[in-house]
Amino acid sequence: METLQNKTAIITGASSGIGKAIAHHLASHGANVVLAARRSEKLKELSDEVKKDYSVDTKVIETDVTKKEDLENLVKETKEAFGSVDIFVNNAGVMLLSFLKNDHVDEWEQMVDVNIKGVLFGIHASLPTMIEQESGHVINISSVAGHEVFPSSAVYSATKYAVRALSMGMEKELSSTGVRVTNISPGAVDTELTDHITDGDVLDMFKGRSTQTLNAEDIAKAVTYAVTQPDYVDVNEVMVRPMQK
Ligand SMILES: NC(=O)c1ccc[n+]([C@@H]2O[C@H](COP(=O)([O-])OP(=O)(O)OC[C@H]3O[C@@H](n4cnc5c(N)ncnc54)[C@H](OP(=O)(O)O)[C@@H]3O)[C@@H](O)[C@H]2O)c1
Repeated sequence: METLQNKTAIITGASSGIGKAIAHHLASHGANVVLAARRSEKLKELSDEVKKDYSVDTKVIETDVTKKEDLENLVKETKEAFGSVDIFVNNAGVMLLSFLKNDHVDEWEQMVDVNIKGVLFGIHASLPTMIEQESGHVINISSVAGHEVFPSSAVYSATKYAVRALSMGMEKELSSTGVRVTNISPGAVDTELTDHITDGDVLDMFKGRSTQTLNAEDIAKAVTYAVTQPDYVDVNEVMVRPMQK
C-alpha cells in the first residue's frame, strides 16, 4: 500500500456521512485534508477531530458545489495552502426520492444542480492542476442507483448514471496524463441522506421497512484502497453493497 503522507485530498460534502468518514480515513493514512461543504460549523468540528486524532494538516473551506466560483476558490486556496491537489473526492450529493407523477420539479432541479453540475464544477476546478502536475486522482461518488433504477429513483438515478458516464469518459480521456479516476457506487449506507425526502408516497413506501445498511466507513475504505495503489494501477469502478439479512 502506498502512503498518503504529504498528499492533499479535497473532499466535498465532508460535513456528514460518507464525506466525513472519507476525511477521517484518508487522514488516518497520512493525507492532509481540505474539508468542503456549506455547513462550516460541522466542518470545523471535523477539522478539530482530525487534527487531534492524526498528525496531518486540515483546512476548512465553506463551499456550495452548485456555484462554479466556490469550486474554483476551493482548488485555489488548497494550492496556496498545500502546493498541490492530489486527490479530489466529488462526494457532495442529495437524494430527494420522489415519484414522477408527484412532480417535485424543484427537487429534480436541485439534484441536477448538486449531483451533476456540482461534479462537473469539481472536475473543471481540479483537472487543469492535476494535468499540469501529471498526477492526481479524482474519486466520483455515484451509487448503485447509477446502475439500476427503482420506483421513485428515476431522477436521482439519472444524476448518478451521469456521474458514472463522466467517470467512464475521464478514464478513457485521462489515462495517458497521469490522472486516475475511480467511480464508487455505494449501496444503502446509514447517513443523513434520506432525511431530506419530502414525497409522502416515498415515506409511506419506506415505513416499517428494515434494510441492511453499510457504515460510511465501509465506503471510506474503498476510497483509501483506490488511492493507495501503485501509480500504474487505475481502479476505475468499485461497487459496495450491504449483504441482506
Ligand atoms: N447513503 C447512501 O445510502 C448512499 C448510497 C449511494 C450513494 N450515496 C452518495 O454518497 C454521497 C454522500 O452522501 P451521504 O450518504 O454521506 O449523505 P449525507 O450525510 O446527507 O451527506 C451529504 C453531503 O453533501 C453535502 N451537500 C449537499 N448539498 C451540497 C451543496 N450544494 N454544496 C456542498 N455540499 C453539499 C452535505 O453538506 P452541507 O449540507 O453541509 O452542504 C453533506 O456533507 C452522495 O453523493 C450520495 O448520493 C449515498
